[in-house]
Amino acid sequence: MSNQNIFDNEIFFEGYSELRSREINANTMLEQPAMKELLPDLTNKSVLDLGCGCGHNCVEFVDSGAARVVGVDISEKMLEVAKKESSNEKIEYVNMSMTDISCLDGKFDLVYSSLAFHYIEDFEKLCKDIYSLVNNNGCLLFSQEHPLITATVDGKGHYNKDDNGKKISYTFSNYNEPGKRYVHWYVDGVTKYHRTFSATVNALAKAGFVIEKICEPQPKDWAMEKWPALYDEFIKPSFLIVKARKI
Ligand SMILES: C[S@@+](CC[C@H](N)C(=O)[O-])C[C@H]1O[C@@H](n2cnc3c(N)ncnc32)[C@H](O)[C@@H]1O
Repeated sequence: MSNQNIFDNEIFFEGYSELRSREINANTMLEQPAMKELLPDLTNKSVLDLGCGCGHNCVEFVDSGAARVVGVDISEKMLEVAKKESSNEKIEYVNMSMTDISCLDGKFDLVYSSLAFHYIEDFEKLCKDIYSLVNNNGCLLFSQEHPLITATVDGKGHYNKDDNGKKISYTFSNYNEPGKRYVHWYVDGVTKYHRTFSATVNALAKAGFVIEKICEPQPKDWAMEKWPALYDEFIKPSFLIVKARKI
């Protein structure tokens, strides 16, 4: 099973970096605020960040008291930035695919992943691998694109508008056909994987996790004031966030 490394594609990397450098984007306004509300106390804890990208979350974990943070990413370019912008003696960056994490040493109190699991084909195996890396009473907290977004085979789920141009509904398809999706995002052929909501939850349960919280983030008032496009989130959610515990 090969893993696509699209973040090392120059055109993709430039487009994505520009998006993330904006003060207002779906991460800063919607996904990250929801993830932060679900973070456990990290004082003296160890954290594994899967698909850590430029390492900004790794630094925040250290700032919140974490004793050790390991950031894993398949992309050399993303880790280059991480080592430049987000280095700290408590953080170690590892350039590998998260499909290979069973070879990592040690265990973690929190396994965290922000918007990377929809790039992984075999989610059951990933959950099993993560479970064996989590300390008892430790957590897995992750966000991914919502299954309503990943569903449509050509990536072209779309809004429908009324006569005044107001968005009123969202059309998607292929929901119950899990598997590979090729979408255009800066470049053609970006590969993501669609899983149904039930397949996601069942994979976590099969691995042994107990689900503590599921969140389909709704925009906060302060965020909608800054970015009215977030009203679209009341038509369909963009993200799925799960917090699960190993008991
Ligand atoms: C949308 S970015 C999110 C980066 C970071 N978590 C953040 O929130 O800023 C997704 C990241 O997942 C990484 N990724 C994709 N597939 C991966 C894999 N198989 N193993 C490890 N990292 C992967 C990408 O290289 C990229 O850095």
